[in-house]
Parts: sequence; structure tokens; C-alpha cells
Amino acid sequence: MSKCFYITTAIDYVNGEPHVGHAYEKVIADVIARARRSLGAEVFFLTGLDEHGQKVQQAAQGQNKSPQVYCDELSVVWKSLATALELTLDDFVRTTEPRHKQVVQAILSKLHAAGHFYKDAYKGFYSTKEETFLTEKDRLPGGTFPAQYGEVTELLEENYYFKLKDQQEWLIGYIEQNPGFIQPDYRRNEVLGFLKNNTLEDLCITRPASRLNWGIPVPFDPNFVTYVWFDALVNYITIPAAQGDPAVNSALNTPLPAAPAPKELWPADVHVIGKDILKFHAVYWPIMLKAMGLPQPKQILVHGWWQKEGEKLSKTTGNVVDPIAVINEWGIDAFRFYVVRELAIGPDGNWTDAGFQSRYQAELANGLGNLVNRSLSMLKRYRNGVVPQRSDELAAETARVIAETRAHLEQNQLQAALLSIWTLVTHANQYVDRTAPFRLAKDPAQAKRLDEVLYNLAEVCRVLAVLLWPFIPSTTEKIYAQLGLTGSPENFSQAAWGGLTEGSSIGEPAALFPRKDKPTA
Ligand code: MSP
Repeated sequence: MSKCFYITTAIDYVNGEPHVGHAYEKVIADVIARARRSLGAEVFFLTGLDEHGQKVQQAAQGQNKSPQVYCDELSVVWKSLATALELTLDDFVRTTEPRHKQVVQAILSKLHAAGHFYKDAYKGFYSTKEETFLTEKDRLPGGTFPAQYGEVTELLEENYYFKLKDQQEWLIGYIEQNPGFIQPDYRRNEVLGFLKNNTLEDLCITRPASRLNWGIPVPFDPNFVTYVWFDALVNYITIPAAQGDPAVNSALNTPLPAAPAPKELWPADVHVIGKDILKFHAVYWPIMLKAMGLPQPKQILVHGWWQKEGEKLSKTTGNVVDPIAVINEWGIDAFRFYVVRELAIGPDGNWTDAGFQSRYQAELANGLGNLVNRSLSMLKRYRNGVVPQRSDELAAETARVIAETRAHLEQNQLQAALLSIWTLVTHANQYVDRTAPFRLAKDPAQAKRLDEVLYNLAEVCRVLAVLLWPFIPSTTEKIYAQLGLTGSPENFSQAAWGGLTEGSSIGEPAALFPRKDKPTA
């Protein structure tokens, strides 16, 4: 059994419909998963849904449904988003599944027995909307709490607490000694700054069942359910446990039943998350794992947030981007390309319909699409679609781009990889303009030169298909089919120059990115 490259995304709350932010995170994780597969790793890619907690309970009540029925119905919508995004998922976790409940309860029992929890009473101001107790620091100058917290009520509650304080120094040391653990660096510095300037409060890991019953029952005390974040973070090891990961199962005192084909997944190689949930992943989760006796994930990769037309996404104001509507109108690859090309993993981004359309037109239709279409159409017209003798004029430039792309993919620098690949698209389009094959075709004395140009162009198109497979897989499969090649360009080693064989016949050229005159809705 060899260790898989294990990549996860945040699991989305099911209290609404998916928007571009959720879709973006899943797409970048899928591009990384595909890139790693292409580079030869065995990959396991996980996403799923966070179905417990007050927000979900309230959303269900608002629709007069039981929380389970509500979650079951919405899970269909979210799963269909995963399909529409063409995610190469290996599992989809829902926190209401029995396999997940069993793992959460096994962990709670183990940590309780080992003395990591204590029970305490707490009196404070509680925000139902944010599911959190507020402190004096949260008050506005006038004494009230900010509107983002919704209704705030004073509560006296007994709960179980997870000891975090003792681990603060250890965590600072761990993050300092492992620079790749939280990326990008400015997020790592943010966590270190927080840990060095604050004393960690112990984490309240239960909610009284009398106030909130939509949660996983605490195995050692029926009066409580598990706090939604303690439940949700555990999803990352539920799936290794369900897949028979030996390290995870031996860490649980009550392992899940043996899996038929066990996989070695833990530790995760990358947890892809948004900036708002960094503290949960970079502070609580490492301490939870340490208490369980499990190694730390290799990397927490933190992306920024999307706005639309410079404003926060908001259902109330209608300022949203519905990924499914965009995909239906423009195609999945246009969506995947835009979000990855527009935004590096880290900073915040701004979706604009004009920017989307302009990238579609300039980079996809006129850049890549035009290159492939004119290269293959000329090969069809001037050489009856038969690949001429190999010529290496663009081989060196292509090799440079292949090496650069590989280096970026190994660092999860997806936008940089696209920029590098596009230098080859531009270079090849300029090569067409410079060599003017349409003129060469008119002069029989230039037949050999025309062969050379046509080979180089077709071969660059083939290499581009391999390099772009993780990003825009369907398009690259079309390029392969138009080149008359069988199979999919899914293996990075296929990028090596010279893959097209002299004498083979290409298929039918067809536009990859049809012209669009209509603006998006
Ligand atoms: N359920 C928790 C995560 C638990 S992970 C163990 C949650 N869910 S969420 O639905 O609110 O958010 C899911 C992911 O979507 C988060 O990583 C969040 O940062 C991301 N995004 C939500 N809105 C976003 C944008 N506007 N832009 C980019 N990503 C955003 O948090």
C-alpha cells in the first residue's frame, strides 16, 4: 500500500444554494488533484457537506422540514454542482452519515478518557447566527453588538471544554518550524501573530441538547450534542477511517469495519480552505489531531474571497454569480479557466461579467481556440489531414514551458502555470503570423517548409492539450480527438515533444470556444 496524495476542500454548509465562492474552491482543489494525477501520484480527492448545527436547523425550520429531509434534498443540489464542475472526486462526505457519526463519537470517547475535556459553566452573550459566545471586545462603542451577530441573548450554560491553552507554545513552535504548513506566507504570519498576541481560550465542544438537538450526540453525556466545528473538522479523518487507513484506524479506539481495499491517506497533503475559516484549521484542528495522536496535515492552503462587480456576494441584494447558470451558458471549461486565471490562490478576487467575457474572447476563443482551429484546418486543407515528418523548430520553446509548468504545478501555483502555458499559445500564434503557411501553400517550392510549419503547429496543440488537461479537461480531450489521437491527455509525460507520428491522420477540426455575442444574464 502506498500513501495517496490526499486533498480536501472545506465542507459546505447546506443552509443555502452554492455560489461562485464554493465553486471556486472546489475547482482549484480539482485542478490540483488532476495535476498531481497527471504528474504520476495516486490521488484521493474529498469534498462534502457540513449538515449539523444551528444554522442548518434554523434553515430547515424556516421551510417546515425536518433537518434530515432538508439536508437530503439540498445535498442533491450540491452533489450536482460537483458533477457540473467535473470534479474528479473519490468520495463525498456528509456529516449526517453513520460512518462520520461513528468516527466523531470514537474521537470524543478517546479524548474524554485521556482527560482532554472538562465540564464547566459559562455565562455570556450568545449569537445564534454565528453560533458563538461574544465577549466584551465584540461590543460596539454604544454597548450593542454588531448587526452581523443577529439576535444576541444572555445564556448560562454548562458545557464540555477542550483544553487548548497548554498547546499554545507547541503550536507556535510547530508553525515556525514548518514554513509550508500554512500557505501563503501572509496567512501563516497572521496565525503566528494571533497566537503570539493572545492567550488561547479553551474550546467549547458541546451544545446542550435542550437548546440544539441537530448534532452528533456526545457518547459520554446524553444531555449534549457535539459543537458543529468539532464535528465538521473530523470529516477529514472520517474518510481515511472509512477507506481503511491503518494509521487512522489504529488511532481510533473503535475503528470502522475493515474496508475491502484499504488506502493510506492520512496525513492530508493539502486542505484547501477559504480565509474566513483559517483559525479553525490552523489552531483548533492541529491541537485536535495532536490529542488524537495523529500527524499534522502537510499543508493548509488558504484562498481569498470573491466579490462580484466590487461588492460582497449577497443573496439579499441579488449580487451573486450562479455557477450553474454560467456553466450552462459558457461551458464548464470557460468557468474553470476564468476563476483560476483571474485569481492566484491567496488574495481576494472580483468577478466581473465584462472581465469574464473578455477573457473568454481574448484568451480562449482568439488565443487557444484560434490556434488549434487554424493549425488543424491548414493541416487538413494543405496536407489532407496527414501529419508530416517531425520537425523540432518549436521544441526548445515548448520544453521551456513544459518545465516551467511542471514547477508551478508542483507548488500548486495554478495561475502562474496558466500564464506560462499562455506564453506558448501566444508564441505559436505569432509563429503562424511569421511563417504565413497560407502563403507558403501557394508556392510549390516551399512544400518542405510548409511541412515543417504544419508539424510544429499540430505538435504544439498536442502538447498544450496535455499541459491544460488539469484546468480545462473537456477542451483538451476535444483537442486530442481533433488531432486523431485516442485516449485522454491526462498524463504529464505525454507532453514530451514529438508525440505526433508522421503519416497519421487527424480528425475533424471544430471551434473549441464558439463566438458569443450575447452578454451574460
Ligand atoms: N462548513 C464550514 C466549513 C467546514 S470545513 C471542516 C463552512 N462552510 S461554508 O459553506 O460557509 O464555506 C465553505 C467554503 O466556501 C469556505 O472555505 C469558505 O471560505 C468558502 N467561501 C464562501 N464564500 C466565499 C467567497 N465569496 N469566495 C470564496 N470562497 C468563499 O465554512
